[in-house]
Amino acid sequence: MKRSSYSTVQQQGYSASIFLKRKDKLEQTQQKCIAIFALLCCFAVLVALIFSSVDIWGDDEDGITEENCSIDCRIVLVENIPDDLPFLRDGRRHLPLSVGLHTLLDQAKHSVEVVSPVWDLNSWDLETTASTAKQGQLLFQRLLTLKSRGVKLKIASSVTNSAELKTLAAHNAQVHFVNMTAFTRGGLHSSFWIVDRKHIYIGSAAMDWRSLSKRKELGVMVYNCSCLALDLHRVFSFYKQLQERDYIPSIWSKRVTALYGKNNALELQLNTTQATAYLSTSPDLFCTKDRTRDVDAIYQVIQSAKTFVFISVTNYLPLVSRGFRGTSVTRYWSPIDEAIREAVVLRGVKVRLLISFWKKTHPLTFNFVTSLKSLCMHLHNCSLEVKFFSHNKEQKDDVQRGLNHNKYMVTDNAVYIGNHDWVGSDFAINAGVGLVLKMENSLTDSGASILQQVKAAFERDWRSRYAKNLQVTKDHDSKYRHLQAKLHMETKEENNPLSL
Ligand SMILES: *[C@@H]1O[C@H](CO)[C@@H](O)[C@H](O)[C@H]1NC(C)=O
Ligand SMILES: *[C@@H]1O[C@H](CO)[C@@H](O)[C@H](O)[C@H]1NC(C)=O
Ligand SMILES: *[C@@H]1O[C@H](CO)[C@@H](O)[C@H](O)[C@H]1NC(C)=O
Ligand SMILES: *[C@@H]1O[C@H](CO)[C@@H](O)[C@H](O)[C@H]1NC(C)=O
Ligand SMILES: *[C@@H]1O[C@H](CO)[C@@H](O)[C@H](O)[C@H]1NC(C)=O
Repeated sequence: MKRSSYSTVQQQGYSASIFLKRKDKLEQTQQKCIAIFALLCCFAVLVALIFSSVDIWGDDEDGITEENCSIDCRIVLVENIPDDLPFLRDGRRHLPLSVGLHTLLDQAKHSVEVVSPVWDLNSWDLETTASTAKQGQLLFQRLLTLKSRGVKLKIASSVTNSAELKTLAAHNAQVHFVNMTAFTRGGLHSSFWIVDRKHIYIGSAAMDWRSLSKRKELGVMVYNCSCLALDLHRVFSFYKQLQERDYIPSIWSKRVTALYGKNNALELQLNTTQATAYLSTSPDLFCTKDRTRDVDAIYQVIQSAKTFVFISVTNYLPLVSRGFRGTSVTRYWSPIDEAIREAVVLRGVKVRLLISFWKKTHPLTFNFVTSLKSLCMHLHNCSLEVKFFSHNKEQKDDVQRGLNHNKYMVTDNAVYIGNHDWVGSDFAINAGVGLVLKMENSLTDSGASILQQVKAAFERDWRSRYAKNLQVTKDHDSKYRHLQAKLHMETKEENNPLSL
């Protein structure tokens, strides 16, 4: 009996403990459920926050979508040729940049969006003749009067304390400040216009009086091309959404993802010529979903060249300097150098590089260029030529007079027009935009295509007396010593990783 009552008690105790355990478990599951629910709520709130903060609806796109945008476009090459490069005035004239920009403003009915590395239209120096210096002021006045025509002016810029931006803002312009220091310690060096989400300008010129007077610039206007304008507008929207931020959100509105890229280029008409086009951007951090990087676009254009690649840039330097724990580290930056070497040596493509020779030419440029040229030694069908564009009358204090500020490349089947010089650091830290236009059967086309026009502009410069062959000067040694000193200095400069 005793034993059995003991076992009953034991049993009861056992079942009680099971009950307690079950209760425990039940409570645990309940707690888990509550915890999961709470987590879900938090997540939902977080997602809502993120999406609202990146403006999921984006900007209104004026009812034009990628389904019904226009691909029947007109393209016009624009240049600024300084008065004191008279030799270049011979031959075919392209539309002057100032005329092109005013034409764009004439077309504007709703909006003008402008991105420029510099805002300095109103100042000029004594050496420049009044008529050319005036171009900058005229353009600025036109921008001020947009408001009276009911046209909205929108600007994205990384320039702080610009008097001109303040004046424009006071005249109802929307100025979106992008703090590039916070993102890459670089600058917003992009240079483009979008008018009514229909017409665009991309090129080397900035909103700088020099771009309309003493500096040599090249760019394109593309009219009635809302598909391309829509995509460029997405780049603008991206900058706009960086306003008052110091980080890049990980989730982005669909309205800033790229519409076209190197693998799905836009098929369009450029003045009756069938072509494909896409935009590229830099730095990597600014390449939203599906957006092609500038460097990849350049690589693709060089790689698909069959007979020639002509490059015109102010600076060429395959180096990248980055600030790292308070010091600046300089490294070899190979992508473009590599693409050129491959094209020249392995595919027999003829390459010409036209680089500006000016006060800010980095001494190592000559070493890298000499290295490129030496590739063709003892090789048949190998041609790599380099010339330096320099204005003879270069004044001591006026480094930009007659400066070839171009940033483009033209091949037998494509043209790339960008905002950056071909310097590693530029692509790494500065924001820029590039436009790639490709044409099949370009060589059999009539002479009127944009490729032929850009090629003709290049050849005019190449043959001009301002383009000089590279000469190993006697003071090469002293230059080298100077370079050592300069690199040494750079490692000490903390705040300016781009002092190349
Ligand atoms: C393009 O399509 C959108 C909607 O798909 C429509 O709202 C808009 O009016 C169309 N725009 C034009 C110019 O046809
Ligand atoms: C930009 O960001 C940097 C670093 O985050 C900050 O120190 C600086 O004050 C910001 N500049 C402006 C004008 O907001
Ligand atoms: C753009 O298209 C409109 C209407 O189709 C036309 O009137 C205008 O001349 C075109 N602009 C250019 C620059 O071709
Ligand atoms: C070199 O060029 C010539 C004429 O342009 C051509 O006949 C020859 O096949 C080329 N050689 C090679 C190895 O590509
Ligand atoms: C395209 O057409 C426009 C206007 O019709 C003209 O001004 C321009 O020069 C043409 N562009 C090219 C590359 O032929």
